[in-house]
Amino acid sequence: MSERLVLALFGSPRKTGPTGRLFDAFIKELPDDARVREFDAFSMKIAPCNGCGGCEKTGNCVLRDDMDEVYEAMETAHGIVIATPVYNLSFPAPLKAAVDRMQCYWSRRFLLGMRPPVKKPKVGALLLAAGSVEKSGTDVLERQTSMLMSVLHCRLTACVPFVGTDQTDAADREKAALLAAKQAGYAFFASR
Ligand SMILES: Cc1cc2nc3c(=O)[nH]c(=O)nc-3n(C[C@H](O)[C@H](O)[C@H](O)COP(=O)(O)O)c2cc1C
Repeated sequence: MSERLVLALFGSPRKTGPTGRLFDAFIKELPDDARVREFDAFSMKIAPCNGCGGCEKTGNCVLRDDMDEVYEAMETAHGIVIATPVYNLSFPAPLKAAVDRMQCYWSRRFLLGMRPPVKKPKVGALLLAAGSVEKSGTDVLERQTSMLMSVLHCRLTACVPFVGTDQTDAADREKAALLAAKQAGYAFFASR
């Protein structure tokens, strides 16, 4: 059986924190033919989008750095998973830089009329860790991700929020969040 590539964007500076634990639970349940290519935003060198407008003419980013590997994987990936903590109601800065650098897909779709902007259709999942139980951070990230995925020819089929990670009763909620992450991993390709 041929492999199915999962492009994984990891947004936490910590591997074993709540985000890492959600991510591990998800990945372990993926089917055997899944090959995960993990991109750890905090260890990559990704320059921020500078709004130069280059992608508006060609559909490609003019900057050359570690983002090239993400662009390459994007063409062949069957699935995308984003695992991230909430930082100030958004993505942590290194992951936000990667997200902004995907503006080239928006340009392809809306300025250059490329439909779809990326050939291969994908399924997507979002795994979120938030210190607060208040939902505004996870809501904003779900909205951002769903808009992003729409220009990546990707259908967001699962969103697993682990909220209240910084509260004293976090362990009580973690069990349910890890179970939901496992179920999302197990069902990832079934949701295509
Ligand atoms: C710079 C910074 C900003 C944060 N902003 C938020 C926030 O806006 N909302 C929230 O719920 N938690 C916020 N948090 C808390 C983290 O989301 C929470 O601690 C999360 O569990 C970290 O996950 P990790 O250890 O897996 O990286 C913030 C944490 C940091 C360090």
